[in-house]
Amino acid sequence: MKSFAELRKGIENCTKCSLYKTRTNVVLDRKPQKTVLFLLGEAPGGHEDMVSGEPFSGEAGKILTDFLAQIDLDRKHCYLGNTVKCRPTKPSSRGRFGPYANRKPTSAEIKSCSSWVEAEIGLVKPKVIATLGGVPLSTILGKQARLEDYHGKYFYSAKYGCFIFPLYHPASIIYRRQLAQTYAQDVFKLKEFLQELKKQGN
Ligand code: URA
Repeated sequence: MKSFAELRKGIENCTKCSLYKTRTNVVLDRKPQKTVLFLLGEAPGGHEDMVSGEPFSGEAGKILTDFLAQIDLDRKHCYLGNTVKCRPTKPSSRGRFGPYANRKPTSAEIKSCSSWVEAEIGLVKPKVIATLGGVPLSTILGKQARLEDYHGKYFYSAKYGCFIFPLYHPASIIYRRQLAQTYAQDVFKLKEFLQELKKQGN
């Protein structure tokens, strides 16, 4: 893949899984750039799909932006992306964005999108991918992983040619308030790790 424009076009024309039938927007970073930190989420929600077309523009995005601000990191200097590019939905009469609620992507949907994620990482060439939640972590590892075992500790991925830094998903703070402190500590460790890489000239 040669450019972000080619990536977008490919995904906009993608029919590898059925999510293209119900999406409003393919959700991709609108200011794509080569950058040190790639923040990899799970899948778009209603706001991303129906309003902005931009990853992490909704409630989870606000939490993420606040945590990044705590370590003086501005999201506009990061690349934001998702493991699945189109919103996975289930019918719901109480949906805030259409007659749907969000759901987790299936393993088939994740697999269908994996070549796009790989192409995206190849274009961004990050030094660090911070995975947000269990879905991107398990996808990167190629096996089911428990966040409890991985969060806040980096490891190197030969496949992606960069470090992986697992974090909890920002939305998990909404349902598990007790995670907020752990999340803040992990984000602080990420800051220290990024500073260490910079010192080493990476
Ligand atoms: N919005 C996104 O773009 N990704 C998520 O994982 C959650 C909300």
